[in-house]
Amino acid sequence: MEPTAFWKKIDSIKELPTLPMIYFKVNKALQNNDASVKGVAGIIEMDQAMSSKVLHIVNCAFYGFRSKISSIPQAVMILGFNTVKNAIVSVSILDVFALKEKFQGFDIKNFWSHSIAVAVLSKHLAEKSRIAPPEDAFIAGLLHDMGKLIMIQHFKEEFSLVWQKKQKDGLSFYDAERSIAQVDHAEIGAYLAKRWLFPDSLIEAISSHHTSKITSANAGLSACVILANLFSKYKEDKLPLNNDIFPDKINQSLNTVIENTGSFYQETQAEIEMANEFFLENT
Ligand SMILES: [Fe+2]
Ligand SMILES: [Fe+2]
Repeated sequence: MEPTAFWKKIDSIKELPTLPMIYFKVNKALQNNDASVKGVAGIIEMDQAMSSKVLHIVNCAFYGFRSKISSIPQAVMILGFNTVKNAIVSVSILDVFALKEKFQGFDIKNFWSHSIAVAVLSKHLAEKSRIAPPEDAFIAGLLHDMGKLIMIQHFKEEFSLVWQKKQKDGLSFYDAERSIAQVDHAEIGAYLAKRWLFPDSLIEAISSHHTSKITSANAGLSACVILANLFSKYKEDKLPLNNDIFPDKINQSLNTVIENTGSFYQETQAEIEMANEFFLENT
């Protein structure tokens, strides 16, 4: 499909996946400069199920906080607005994308396992290199491929052509996409992130996760997701990285991690497993 026609069609789809109302309420409250802990916590506490899910995830070891958090106001106070807002996205996202339709050969469980691994790896990279906020890196990793799910739900024919090409020629999904489609899953995911009013850095990290050269001001977050995605594919092997893919400063911060890919990958395995259990226990 021609890009203009594609974006026109996607604009007109009424039932694109959306985050729970509570996310947008929190987002709106945070746009006020005088947003208070009490105010934001109050919005979340109105939804009991959401409150307990948020408390559950922030207390999970893989999410990365050491102190025990026992209430929503405490979560907002200790972890901050942004982290709690991201926790709402994390605990909602699997429901948001509950696929009604099946696509032969595409395993949704594998899809989420990959996304969860990329989330944990990218959070670790952000922590180690200090080039991006770790909680943003987690969300960006978790959502980086969500464009594929939009394709399955709303552009089945396009998805199916890409899938066939991938199988037939032994290509990666992205390479198959680039060879026959004019719009790719990274752009589609970024489109959705925009509709969800995500910050620019997150939108960019999703749109650029297959890019071969990063230059933007938000390069740190994008670099974490690109690398995490490669780690999840090549595991302990040396990553096929060009020296000039990231700006120099980012390269320097990431160097020790990239040089020790084996041990970095090993260190994250237990957390990836825990995260998988948390997210996939009910699927
Ligand atoms: Fe991707
Ligand atoms: Fe991916």
